[in-house]
Amino acid sequence: MSQLQELSLSVFKRLYQNAVSPSHQNATIDKVNKLIRDSISPPPEKGSLIMGSVGTGKTSLMAIILRNYLIDIEYRLKSLVDSGKAIIDYDSGYVHVLATVDRPDGWQHIASYASFWYGTQAQLVQTLRNYYMEGEEIQSVGFPPSLIKDRIFIDDFGRAYSDQAGWNTYLQEEYIDFLWREKIPTYLTTNWTWADMQQCRSGLKYPTWQRVADRLCDSAWIGKIEIVGKSLRQ
Ligand SMILES: Nc1ncnc2c1ncn2[C@@H]1O[C@H](COP(=O)(O)OP(=O)(O)OP(=O)(O)O)[C@@H](O)[C@H]1O
Ligand SMILES: [Mg+2]
Repeated sequence: MSQLQELSLSVFKRLYQNAVSPSHQNATIDKVNKLIRDSISPPPEKGSLIMGSVGTGKTSLMAIILRNYLIDIEYRLKSLVDSGKAIIDYDSGYVHVLATVDRPDGWQHIASYASFWYGTQAQLVQTLRNYYMEGEEIQSVGFPPSLIKDRIFIDDFGRAYSDQAGWNTYLQEEYIDFLWREKIPTYLTTNWTWADMQQCRSGLKYPTWQRVADRLCDSAWIGKIEIVGKSLRQ
């Protein structure tokens, strides 16, 4: 893992800038508490549940984790690109690596990298809802391809999305269960505290989220990061 905080290849910059809002794109690691800093470098193979009260830097930290993930891939591909053995082609959110081969067109697709989804919980719900017809069984059609990725980033989890017991909850429950079963590294920010999570797991608080909270607390899948302190907003 390089210690660089910047992305250098334009294709990776574009991926990052398309995903992260301008107010979080320039988040810097030196504003992050030392213990937390150490826990995300090198990028964790597990997901992270980033907790903290309003304005403490949760979304900024998640943006840094995404950036480090991309920097790490970029670092591994750069020598191939610099030596002219590969080119990187950006296509609808994927990075495709093409290597030189003895073929008339000269190039062969060898791999796709940097597959991730990044958005708010509300956008996640919208993406899920748009994919299914009301009442359709997930089991028969699977999940939206845009949500089947190597890394998943969900901002603002637990903002009490409407329709407490209905369709939205069902779709999210099934999707989170899928991420948990497949152990796909998933990073979330939330204003919930660890105590909220525990009360939710035991059904004392937000009972409709019980199954989701239980999975998010599985330390084999997701590590917890608690940011303490006051809002950093000026
Ligand atoms: N690592 C960082 N680097 C630079 N600025 C930061 C960083 N962390 C926080 N800030 C500053 O604090 C502000 C709030 O940070 P951020 O939006 O990440 O907090 P949050 O915990 O996600 O807030 P909310 O609970 O409202 O979603 C940012 O707009 C930025 O100005
Ligand atoms: Mg935030």
